[in-house]
Amino acid sequence: MTNQDLARVLAWRNHEDVRRYMYTQHEIGLEEHTRWFERASQDASRHLLVFESDAVSLGFINIHQIAPGGVADWGFYAAPDAPKGTGRHLGQAALRYAFAQAGLHKLCGQALDYNENSIRFHQKLGFQQEGILREQHFNGQRYHDVVCFGLLASEWQANL
Ligand SMILES: CC(C)(COP(=O)(O)OP(=O)(O)OC[C@H]1O[C@@H](n2cnc3c(N)ncnc32)[C@H](O)[C@@H]1OP(=O)(O)O)[C@@H](O)C(=O)NCCC(=O)NCCS
Repeated sequence: MTNQDLARVLAWRNHEDVRRYMYTQHEIGLEEHTRWFERASQDASRHLLVFESDAVSLGFINIHQIAPGGVADWGFYAAPDAPKGTGRHLGQAALRYAFAQAGLHKLCGQALDYNENSIRFHQKLGFQQEGILREQHFNGQRYHDVVCFGLLASEWQANL
């Protein structure tokens, strides 16, 4: 991701079909978004990526090393108007990047309990469900469970 992507990524992030599945769901302004990018892009533990196909930007991926030894979290969204199949391609490219390029050991994902697309998506990519954080997220009105997924480099390699 570069400065050129800021407006596009912000429009995706603020879209109702993306925002409703995030931990923070307010509409993000350009200033807040720019401040986030300036900070996050300087942070060596983060990889901010735009997924492209045929030079068209189709999604965003944020990989964050959260523990020593290459253990990382990820977050992602496809462009809301992206063609069917984009999610799968984005996921496969992100895993290739995480394990083959960045050399990570483990990638972890978290999905809100009502995010059926993301839960199915992690399962289809080979992630194992590792637990449920019960009523871990409060959206201002009610609590939701958080479903935790993990994928080891060795499991990704074995599934190729
Ligand atoms: C999470 C996300 C990236 C998952 O992508 P996805 O929905 O699996 O995307 P795909 O386009 O690959 O697949 C959509 C469906 O179309 C199907 N499909 C894939 N290629 C297709 C094609 N060429 N023709 C028809 N259908 C197709 C898939 O099998 C899938 O069906 P399923 O949901 O019944 O399995 C996407 O839903 C998203 O960006 N959501 C909003 C943000 C978000 O929730 N982020 C994650 C927070 S934890």
